[in-house]
Amino acid sequence: MEHNVNQELLDFIAASPTAWHAVENLARMLQEAGCRELREYEDWTLRPGERVFVRRNGSALIAFRVPEADFPGFMLMAAHADSPCFKLKELKTVSAAGLYAQLSVERYGGMLMAPWLDRPLSAAGRVVVREGDRMVPRLVDLKKDLFLIPNVAIHMDRGANENKSYDMKTDLLPLAGSVESGKRLPALVAESVGAREEDIVSAELQLYPRTPGTVWGLEEEYLSSPRLDDLQCAFACTQGFLRAGKGESAPVLCVFDNEEVGSGTKQGADSDFLADTLLRLCAALGLDEAACRRRLAQSFMVSADNAHAVHPNHPEYADKSDRPEMNKGIVVKFNASQRYTSDAVSAAVFEEICRRAGVPTQRFTNRADLAGGSTLGNISTSHVSLNTVDIGLAQLAMHSCYETAGTKDTAWLIRAAERFFASSLRRDERGIRIIDGGESA
Ligand code: CO
Repeated sequence: MEHNVNQELLDFIAASPTAWHAVENLARMLQEAGCRELREYEDWTLRPGERVFVRRNGSALIAFRVPEADFPGFMLMAAHADSPCFKLKELKTVSAAGLYAQLSVERYGGMLMAPWLDRPLSAAGRVVVREGDRMVPRLVDLKKDLFLIPNVAIHMDRGANENKSYDMKTDLLPLAGSVESGKRLPALVAESVGAREEDIVSAELQLYPRTPGTVWGLEEEYLSSPRLDDLQCAFACTQGFLRAGKGESAPVLCVFDNEEVGSGTKQGADSDFLADTLLRLCAALGLDEAACRRRLAQSFMVSADNAHAVHPNHPEYADKSDRPEMNKGIVVKFNASQRYTSDAVSAAVFEEICRRAGVPTQRFTNRADLAGGSTLGNISTSHVSLNTVDIGLAQLAMHSCYETAGTKDTAWLIRAAERFFASSLRRDERGIRIIDGGESA
């Protein structure tokens, strides 16, 4: 399974240069497996046993299997679809040095800057097209080498290899062509969506590197690609959701947007998207709010976002003992300040499910003097409070535009997710029973 899974993952990421594309591709996978799309602006009629999904803003998605009305709770997994990148301020170029057409860009998220330089880049995102009295959003992917952010030669910047800092407004502006060719950009975008230039009302485009993903290493231990954080987890959780057999609980797959800028949007983890969806699911089954909350108390969330592997050149950044390795299984993340939600109970439940699935796990904590990053789990739980565990797959160079992970780990997360989604939890005064799922999907 490993080889196929890695190629499928790389193909999925290559076809998903933005969160909109990732969600479009995940929606297609779900539809091809027979899941039906619901719309937030319509009434929902749900039949127990069917699998459905709903999108918000085209860049976030929640899928679930409709349970029987007496189901014990929800089994949720959440990942994010966005990655750090440069966003175009406008669909036009500016002139530079009187010779060049440049893009005017802003930073989205906390990326490593240096890897973006001297690489062919393209642009993708969405535009809104006027069609009669309708405003119609359309996905765009220009799929060509169009832009590049050139470094300054070492001869002109002798200090370039020491303590380099990047000024967003000068050092990182992408070159697009000659000053005369600058006006081609809106036409190119219009052409790519089959619309007239004057009908493009607005655009949200971002840059992405054109370097394709690859499997490498003396024994093909590694794979490198743009956007492994967090499309590797989004892909694996979706595959697990689709493969999972039926259990008593309601499996729920969440893919949120805007994690890289704090999740505080209508389609982010810090929104009512999940709460709304679960309440509407309960209402469609004839359950009132109290009945829904009783089920939430017996529910569980896995927040899946990639983790830092110990670095070959800088092992000193890792904790002395909790230092994840690539190809050694799923990383369970802990943080005393609760930036990760894992606690003794949630880790025990998740690690037991992995053990039953034959999937190895390992543990991560930040080196005690480093703050580390944050993720979805603790943000989502401020809206829907659940027993939650933070996990991820070990990777190098997080937030580079070309990241590296282990070739064994995606298959393990799929297997764990498959087992997790089919499991159910039953709580009583003594503790939590983990009940395995029944027949296959
Ligand atoms: Co992430």
